Amino acid sequence: MLLHRALSSTLTRFSYSFLKSASLRQFVSQSRTPAQKIASAPTQKIASAPTQKIASALTPKIASAPILPLIVPTADISTSATVLMAQDEVTESLSKMEISPIYTSDKNGSDEKGEGTEDSPFKTPLQAMRHWGKTPFPTIFVDSKVEGEQFSVISQAQMKKLTKVYQREANKTDNKAKKEAEEAAKRAANLEESKSITISEDPSLPTATASKITNLEQYRGQRVKVYGWVHRLRRQGKNMAFVVLRDGTGFLQCILSDNLCKTYEALLLATESSVQIFGTLKEVPEGKNAPGGHELAADYWEIVGRSPAGGIDNVLNVESNSDVMYQNRHLWIRGENMSKILKVRHATIKAFRDHYYDRDYVEVTPPTMVQCQVEGGSTLFKFDYFGEEAYLTQSSQLYLETCIPALGNVYCIAQSYRAESSHTRRHLSEFTHIEGELPFITFEQLLQALEDLVCDTAERIMTSKHSQLVLDINPNFKVPQRPFKRMDYRDALQYCKEHDIKKEDGTHFEFGDDIPEAPERKMTDMIGEPILLCRFPKAMKSFYMQPDLADPIVTESVDLLLPNVGEIIGGSMRIYDEKELDAGFKREGISPDNYYWYVDQRKYGTTPHGGYGLGLERYLMWLLNSNNVRETCLYPRTADRCKP
Ligand code: 4AD
Ligand code: MG
Repeated sequence: MLLHRALSSTLTRFSYSFLKSASLRQFVSQSRTPAQKIASAPTQKIASAPTQKIASALTPKIASAPILPLIVPTADISTSATVLMAQDEVTESLSKMEISPIYTSDKNGSDEKGEGTEDSPFKTPLQAMRHWGKTPFPTIFVDSKVEGEQFSVISQAQMKKLTKVYQREANKTDNKAKKEAEEAAKRAANLEESKSITISEDPSLPTATASKITNLEQYRGQRVKVYGWVHRLRRQGKNMAFVVLRDGTGFLQCILSDNLCKTYEALLLATESSVQIFGTLKEVPEGKNAPGGHELAADYWEIVGRSPAGGIDNVLNVESNSDVMYQNRHLWIRGENMSKILKVRHATIKAFRDHYYDRDYVEVTPPTMVQCQVEGGSTLFKFDYFGEEAYLTQSSQLYLETCIPALGNVYCIAQSYRAESSHTRRHLSEFTHIEGELPFITFEQLLQALEDLVCDTAERIMTSKHSQLVLDINPNFKVPQRPFKRMDYRDALQYCKEHDIKKEDGTHFEFGDDIPEAPERKMTDMIGEPILLCRFPKAMKSFYMQPDLADPIVTESVDLLLPNVGEIIGGSMRIYDEKELDAGFKREGISPDNYYWYVDQRKYGTTPHGGYGLGLERYLMWLLNSNNVRETCLYPRTADRCKP
């Protein structure tokens, strides 16, 4: 087999058309040609010398082919000794070969699929020439104009004309290849030469102060050193390169000149390489723009970690589709927009913590591996917990409820999980859940707590040092006004009826119907301001929701709907009577055994209480006018993605 491969690869290099030609077919298929004897031999030994003989027997082109080990047969040979294929035999066989004509047919041929044979002709004579690859060409046949005759030899005039076209084309290709080879050689020589150029820090210069980019302003006019990643790179001739350095705190324009951009490392430098740059920080002259208003005139630099040639742009660029982007989210987040979003996320989490801290809530950290459902069994992620069934938590609410007798108002910022197969722009399988629980409150006080939460956190973000990031992404953001519009679920049904917002089947929403995402958004966007949508039917909601005493078929429940997103908060008053809670478990078919600790809260000093959960990614979607929750979290988990 090895020989077969060696031989056929050599032959292919020799001229592919030979293989197609009848005479070669004959050559290969003649019952006992040396080639076939060798190729079909069952027992094989490796000998390298004859390989060279064969190779050199086959035209110079073949001789230059890589020399592969040759397998020679020992069976089917009278002497049973190893037989080596003689150079003379091959030369003789080849010299006997006729050069077959090439067939073309404008009517039936194909330049893409044709093989140049009678049965499978090319479409054009030019393709036949390209296929042959050099002059002189074998006889080329074209469609015959004579009735009853399929092919005739191409006219001399046509042959002459097409040969010229072929040669022009071949010259062009040759020139291009030559130019490319020259450039590559030049690059290689440059690179080689660059190895002799070394740079070092000048000890006579003042000591450089290490600084993060964001703190640089105080060092203007002084010598500094900065670590970072090459965010952008532009070379200007041989003697100048502009680097925009990124260190997570900001961006800094750096100028590398003369030898600094001629070293081996400088020539290999690509975006996303990590470096340390030393130099003097200069305020940019008026009329010139640079991040921070200054630039670094480098006097020395060092590579810390290289990046592949072409940098990140080879992986992610404007043409990458969203799947490629999310597959490479670890690189994507280095981009300006994504890192801004992650910083706003950081500022938002801080705003929530500050809000709670200032209002005397206590932060707790409940477990996320649990044995109780909160929001219905259908969206539970189950797993084996040392032999017992357990779940990833859907909500920390039940644990927060147990904390209020110990700590008063409590909150947590924890991951929640939903095995949601819904592919919407606002559903994740894992999200950051900000939940609060408040004892001794009324439903109205719960609604006020929600208004306060959303308005106060937005206010904090917009008065923080990160506010500009929000405005960069969403220039129209405005902190909402209190009080929010309040609307009962029944009013929403009426609103939908009046504004022609219908169910998928074209009928109107009726009491008991869930208003799904699309119509809910339609209504929210039509109203165009935050809505506290209250009092959902008991049958639609979870086992723990307190019925409204004035209208017991609905609950004291609330969803906060915001424009562009829809629901960002779900909350309610909780059943605080033990027997009623028991009825709730029964209604939902939940065994109360695993909830003994939750029920105990109703046994030991029960009290009216309520709380809520806010999806951080959805809040950010609203704040940043983003199109999808996947954009506002670090590594989104959805039904079709658990990577990176
Ligand atoms: O309305 P939900 O399901 O309510 C609860 O989990 C309550 N136990 C919370 C509580 O009262 N402590 O979820 C609350 C919020 C939603 O309004 C939404 O913002 C977010 O959590 N959320 C999701 N975010 C992204 N992807 C998902 N699959 C989400 N499911 C809920
Ligand atoms: Mg909800």
